[in-house]
Amino acid sequence: MNTPGPKLFLGNLLSVMIHQQKGGIVGFDRKYLVWALSYAAIGMCLGIFMAASHNHVHRVTHAHILLVGFVVSFIYGIIHKLWLGQPNPMVAKIQFVLHQAGAVTMATGLLLLYGNILPEPQLDPILGIASIAVLVGTLLMLYLVLKANAVKT
Ligand code: HEM
Repeated sequence: MNTPGPKLFLGNLLSVMIHQQKGGIVGFDRKYLVWALSYAAIGMCLGIFMAASHNHVHRVTHAHILLVGFVVSFIYGIIHKLWLGQPNPMVAKIQFVLHQAGAVTMATGLLLLYGNILPEPQLDPILGIASIAVLVGTLLMLYLVLKANAVKT
């Protein structure tokens, strides 16, 4: 029997996260869902690591991966599924990329900051840009919601 191995799992994960899957382009609802669950897995690993090591130094990073990464991505996925229908593809893409780039940069920056790997003055501008990317992502989502048909059947 041909059992799907880790290679197939990773291949599927990356193809959905980035753009396509066998059979066509992946919708933003599904992309957001896959990114959200990936943040959940990573954030929970960090939580388990903190608990097991009795060192909670990464709790801020853990909270941001789970809240900005998992929870907000999940909510954006639901908004796409329930309210947006067929949004302007360019705006939807920019919104998606901004949110993911912001969340990943923020998580990495916080990990380096609270892990004492790089000094705060060096990380501050990067964290600032990441926060603004996440904020602009939210404003663009608001724009997409306002532009969508008020009544969707
Ligand atoms: C496997 C699952 C999880 C584990 C093992 C875990 C573990 C932890 C640990 C050890 C802390 C530090 C507690 C402290 O120092 O006071 C923490 C804090 C926190 N966790 Fe989790 N967690 C998990 C899931 C989640 C989820 C799903 C969320 C949110 C969606 C979440 C949000 C938070 C928040 C907001 C904090 C507080 C951060 C702070 O005080 O700065 N965690 N977690």
